[in-house]
Amino acid sequence: MSNLKLTSPSLGPIHDELHLRRRKKFAKWMLESTNGGPSVALFHSGKEKIRNGDNYYPFRSSSDFFYLTGFPEPDAWLLITCNEKENFSDTIFCLPKDPLQELWNGFRVGPNNAAKKFFFRKSYSIDMLGKELEKKLVSSKNLFFPFSESHEIDTVVKTIIKKIKNQSRGKKIPPERFIDVAQAIANLRLVKDNKEIDTMKKAAQISSLGHIRAMKFCKPGITEYQIEAELLHEFGKSGAQSVAYPSIVASGPNSCILHHKAGKRILQESEIILIDAGCEIEGYASDITRSFPVSGYFSSPQRQIYEIVLAAQKAAIQATKPGADFSDPHSAAVKILSQGMMDIGLIKNNSLDEIIDKELYKQFYMHRTGHWLGMDVHDVGDYSKPLQPGMILTIEPGCYVRPSTDVDKSFWNIGIRIEDDALVTDSGCALLTRKVPVEISEIESLINQ
Ligand code: GLY
Ligand code: MN
Ligand code: MN
Repeated sequence: MSNLKLTSPSLGPIHDELHLRRRKKFAKWMLESTNGGPSVALFHSGKEKIRNGDNYYPFRSSSDFFYLTGFPEPDAWLLITCNEKENFSDTIFCLPKDPLQELWNGFRVGPNNAAKKFFFRKSYSIDMLGKELEKKLVSSKNLFFPFSESHEIDTVVKTIIKKIKNQSRGKKIPPERFIDVAQAIANLRLVKDNKEIDTMKKAAQISSLGHIRAMKFCKPGITEYQIEAELLHEFGKSGAQSVAYPSIVASGPNSCILHHKAGKRILQESEIILIDAGCEIEGYASDITRSFPVSGYFSSPQRQIYEIVLAAQKAAIQATKPGADFSDPHSAAVKILSQGMMDIGLIKNNSLDEIIDKELYKQFYMHRTGHWLGMDVHDVGDYSKPLQPGMILTIEPGCYVRPSTDVDKSFWNIGIRIEDDALVTDSGCALLTRKVPVEISEIESLINQ
């Protein structure tokens, strides 16, 4: 087998047979869920989207398509067929070679190379999709595809089914069953293999460097945008292909807006800055948040809230282990946060049980403590599954105090979130992002270096 490592500007090196193994695993599920009936599955990488004029947004493949193929180009289609006898075949349809298009917009693999280099049984130009799909569909009982996720897939399926029905006057029969692939692929993606874990460690490492750079750069008088520029510089310089999501750089009152995108606000000395940013490598995300004082030294109210959130995060980390429910880290964090809110007087005249049972803590902590992390920053996967080694999730408690007459003014506009990426291991969890400090003394000494 060849050792090909193609590089795409958006999604990085390709890992050849790994993707073939994934397609075979998926086909096994297709067979099992249909008792071996002849079946077809259809996936699309996505289309490039126009930004304006002749400009396109950077292309990023559909995660499911990329998970199964490693094929980096827009407008590529994957067709998997299987039945009891032949078991498995896979075909890629992709953009044809075109010297003029390639001169302007870059290299295309082309149908002649696609099968060889990406381990598909067959490959065709995209112009052949309709004809080939029609042939497969008239001999299949089941059609698998991601429901309502792609306008292109919905349209192709509808058009071809209609064509089969209209043209053959009942002699040809389209598949009887349509099956959504979303849950099956999500299950495959939920537990990461060693290659995925290595890639995510790399993404976590680069994002950590970005946060460290941003912390060192931070000072009063600069804008949120300028901090974002430092993050992007470090991500790109260190080998990331993209951000995993738009960077959240939130100063002062903006720190209490959960997903505030970096803007032109100027950082003031007395304020908190909350940075939630992560890069993407080879299609895999990282997701880190740190919150710290612009001045480089925590004021007493900032310190009080920070210490509560940090204690909540430590409790959630302890609760992240094999066999635990996904909600266990959240429950552990909520307990510490609620106690802390009571201790510093954010919530008065209620017992700890009342604060938790009546969800009074939601005035200051209104989101969950984590989410699956993988190809998508909020990754796919069943949240009712117990934690098991190889799963990766975020642990991100917070406390956000917006101006309110029932709250001491010294706490207003302090928004703190601390977020790390955790790999579930045999005995607990390993944090992938702790190169960026979280302890107050470490943060202060890094900023003031
Ligand atoms: N970066 C978005 C989140 O933490 O969920
Ligand atoms: Mn997150
Ligand atoms: Mn985040």
